[in-house]
Amino acid sequence: MNPVPMRTCFPHAVAVLLFAAAGLAAWQVHDVLQPARAETTILFNHGLDPVVTAAPASWTNAWCGSCHKQEYAQWQESRHSVAGTSDTFVVECLEPGSGRQQFCLNCHTPRIPDRGLPTAEPPGLDDAFGDQPDWLTGGVDCLTCHVRDGVVVATRVTSRGLAKHPMREDFRLGRTEFCAGCHQFAFKDSDLPDRFHGALQQASLEEFREYKAGGGKAARCHECHMPKGGHLMPGGFSDEMVRQAVGLELDARWIDPGREAEVAVTLRTGRVGHRVPGGEELRFLTARTEVYDAGGRMVGRPVSSDKTHEPLEGWPAVETLRRLMGDREHGRDLQAAPAPDTRLRSGEIRRYSYRVHFDPESLRGSLTVRTRLWYHLMHDGKAELFGHQAEDVQRVVRETEVRLDLPRPAPTDR
Ligand code: HEC
Ligand code: HEC
Ligand code: HEC
Ligand code: HEC
Ligand code: HEC
Repeated sequence: MNPVPMRTCFPHAVAVLLFAAAGLAAWQVHDVLQPARAETTILFNHGLDPVVTAAPASWTNAWCGSCHKQEYAQWQESRHSVAGTSDTFVVECLEPGSGRQQFCLNCHTPRIPDRGLPTAEPPGLDDAFGDQPDWLTGGVDCLTCHVRDGVVVATRVTSRGLAKHPMREDFRLGRTEFCAGCHQFAFKDSDLPDRFHGALQQASLEEFREYKAGGGKAARCHECHMPKGGHLMPGGFSDEMVRQAVGLELDARWIDPGREAEVAVTLRTGRVGHRVPGGEELRFLTARTEVYDAGGRMVGRPVSSDKTHEPLEGWPAVETLRRLMGDREHGRDLQAAPAPDTRLRSGEIRRYSYRVHFDPESLRGSLTVRTRLWYHLMHDGKAELFGHQAEDVQRVVRETEVRLDLPRPAPTDR
C-alpha cells in the first residue's frame, strides 16, 4: 500500500481516516499476538517492533569493541553477528512465501529504522540487502542489546564506565526473559495475514520452564550460553554444545547366538535447559545404527521391537528427534491433531532397541555395531532452497561402536 498516490487523490479527511485505520490495524496485530502465549517480556517483544536505541551517530559496534575487545571478538564469531547477513536468513527473508515481513527484521536486525506493521513488507527490503547498511550488517549487535535512550544499559554501572559513556543499570538484561524476547515467538505465515496464533514457533522460555519444573539447576539461559560473561553464545553450530546436551550409549547382546541379537541405543540428556535440539524448528537429530562384519559388509536385518516404530527397511536404522509443525501448529486448523515432537526433553533418557535377525551361514568373524548421532541444521529440501550442500548442514556429533563376537562353535563330541 503506497500512501503517496492516496494523498493526491483523497481529501484530507479520508487520509486521516485511513491513517486511523492503519493505527487500528497495528493495534489489532499487537492484540492478536498476546493470546499466542508469546508473553510480552522485556526489552524485546518477539519481533512486534524494532528497537530504538537513540545512540549517538559515533556509537558503532567497532567503537564499543575498541575498549571491550574480548566481548567484541566473541560477538564477531557468534551467530548473533550474522543474524541479518547469513545466506540462510537472506534467502528466507527475501522468499515471497516465507519471508518479506518486517517481523523477520525486527528480530534478526532489530535496529532497522523503519517500523511498519510486523506482517507487512518493509519498505526498501531488496535495496537494503544490496546496500548493506550498518543496521543490517550488525545483525543482533552491541547497540541492539545494550543501548536505549542514547545510554549504555548494563547490569552493573561503575564510575569507570560512566567516565567513558553515559550508562544506566537494568538488571533485566541478566534475566531469562531478556533472551526470550527474541527466542520465543508465535508462528506467522504470510498466507495468514496478521494471524499470530497457533503454536510457538520457538519456545525456549516454555521449554526452560519445563526444565526448571523437572528440577533443572541453571537459573537462566546465561549460565550455559554466556559463561564468564562470554558473548560467543554458542548453540547448535557447536559440536561441544551439542555433545554437552546429549550422550550416546550402545549395547548389543545375543538372544539366539548367531541368529538373533538385541541392539539398544540410549540417548541421555546432559546439561541442557530446554528440549534437544533447542531453538529453531528447522533443527533435528538422527541416530543411525548399523551392523557390519570384519570386511565392512552390512549384515543382519533389523526388526523393530519398539511399538512406536515404523517397520524397518534395513541398515541404517534411523531415529529422528524433531519437532514437526502441522496445520494446527501453523494456526491453519486448530482442530487438527497435534504434530509430534520427538525431541528429547530435559532430563530424559531415551532408549531405542532393535531385534536383529542374522543368517548364521553368512556370518564370518566378529561383528561391529555402530551408532552415529547426526545434528542437522535443516532437512535437504531447505538446504536446496538456501543453496547449501547437504554435507554443510549436517554432521556427526557422536559416534560409538560395540563388538558383537560370534558364538564359538559348539564343542565337538569326543
Ligand atoms: C544478544 C544480546 C547481547 C549482545 C549482542 C551483546 N551483549 Fe553484552 N551483554 C549481554 C548480556 C545479557 C550481558 C550480561 C548480563 C549479566 O548477566 O550481567 C552482557 C554483558 C556485557 C558486558 C559486561 C561484562 C561481561 O562480560 O559480563 C560488557 C562489557 C558487554 N556486554 C559489552 C558488549 C559489547 C561490546 C557488545 C558488542 C560487541 C555486546 N556486549 C553485545 C547481552 C548482549
Ligand atoms: C572508550 C572506551 C569505551 C568505549 C568506546 C565503550 N566502553 Fe563500555 N565501558 C568502558 C569502561 C572502562 C567500563 C567500566 C568497566 C568496569 O568498571 O569494570 C565500561 C562498562 C561497560 C558495561 C558494563 C560492564 C560491566 O562490568 O558490567 C557495558 C555493558 C558496556 N560498557 C557496554 C558498552 C557498549 C555497548 C559500548 C558501545 C556502544 C561501549 N561500552 C563503549 C569503556 C568503554
Ligand atoms: C534481538 C534478538 C535476540 C536477543 C535479545 C537474543 N538473541 Fe540469540 N539469536 C537471535 C537470532 C536472530 C539468532 C539466529 C542467528 C542465526 O543463526 O542466523 C540467535 C541465535 C542464538 C543462538 C544460536 C547459536 C548457534 O550456534 O546456533 C543462541 C545459543 C542464542 N542466540 C542465545 C541467546 C541468549 C542466551 C540470549 C540472551 C542472553 C540471546 N540469544 C538473546 C536473536 C536474539
Ligand atoms: C543447562 C544449560 C542450558 C540452559 C539453561 C539453556 N541452554 Fe540453550 N543450549 C544448551 C545446549 C547444551 C545447547 C546445544 C544443544 C541444542 O542445540 O539443543 C543449547 C542450544 C541452544 C540454542 C541453539 C539451537 C540452534 O538451533 O542452534 C538456542 C537458540 C538456545 N539454546 C537458546 C537458549 C535460551 C534462549 C535459553 C534460556 C531460555 C537457554 N538456551 C537455556 C544449554 C542450555
Ligand atoms: C521473535 C524473533 C524472531 C522473528 C520474528 C524471526 N526470527 Fe528467525 N530466528 C530467531 C532466532 C532466535 C533464531 C535462532 C534460533 C536457533 O538458532 O535455533 C532464528 C533463526 C532463523 C533462521 C535459521 C538461521 C540459521 O543460521 O540456520 C532463519 C533462516 C530465520 N530465523 C529466518 C527468519 C525469517 C525469514 C523470519 C520472518 C518470517 C524470521 N526468522 C522471524 C528469531 C526470530
